[in-house]
Amino acid sequence: MIPASNEPWSVVSAVLDGHDATVRFGEWLGRACVDGDVLALCGPLAAGKTTLAQGLARGLEVPPAQRVRSPTFALCNEYPGRLPVLHADLYRLEAAEEAEDLGFREQVGSHGVAIIEWADRFPEILPLHSLWLRLDHDGERRRLRVWLGAEDGDSRWVARLPAPGVDVEWSRGTELAPWEQASSY
Ligand SMILES: Nc1ncnc2c1ncn2[C@@H]1O[C@H](COP(=O)(O)OP(=O)(O)OP(=O)(O)O)[C@@H](O)[C@H]1O
Ligand SMILES: [Mg+2]
Repeated sequence: MIPASNEPWSVVSAVLDGHDATVRFGEWLGRACVDGDVLALCGPLAAGKTTLAQGLARGLEVPPAQRVRSPTFALCNEYPGRLPVLHADLYRLEAAEEAEDLGFREQVGSHGVAIIEWADRFPEILPLHSLWLRLDHDGERRRLRVWLGAEDGDSRWVARLPAPGVDVEWSRGTELAPWEQASSY
């Protein structure tokens, strides 16, 4: 369970012990998604963003035959699921305008569920109601942090996030959000 808080932003943190834990967490989160949700994934190379996206797709009932991989040639891949799933990776994007020109703003956050890897490269093109998740290496494991805001509508996640049957230990902290940190790119 996530402790309730009235802070404008709170960060919950969990350790994901192994690849399967990342998939399971994603699957559970995917089941909690509703139309219009945007999941902004960030964290360093090989942190597990695509693995999390694969779990999300499972929770969103994307057929297993659809292999979820980061789009290489297109900006976004689209998968059918219980809601349409849009999967983008901003790693190779050179300027926000490129995404704007490809209709990113119109597509992301308006219908279906959008999963955006490397979202912190261009936070300005993400909708305000995005849920920000950051994965970091923690030895062999991964540490996941989720920013829950009381503003911009995403406090609704607080109610949706308790995870019955999912072995995630939540702890609370406060720190700068990914989009507030000095860019390291
Ligand atoms: N919780 C975890 N503990 C240990 N390893 C994990 C965990 N989650 C995922 N991995 C492993 O980390 C590796 C990198 O995963 P993944 O490709 O999802 O990372 P990524 O963040 O998408 O990387 P990139 O930035 O290169 O796109 C994979 O081998 C995956 O199995
Ligand atoms: Mg990836």
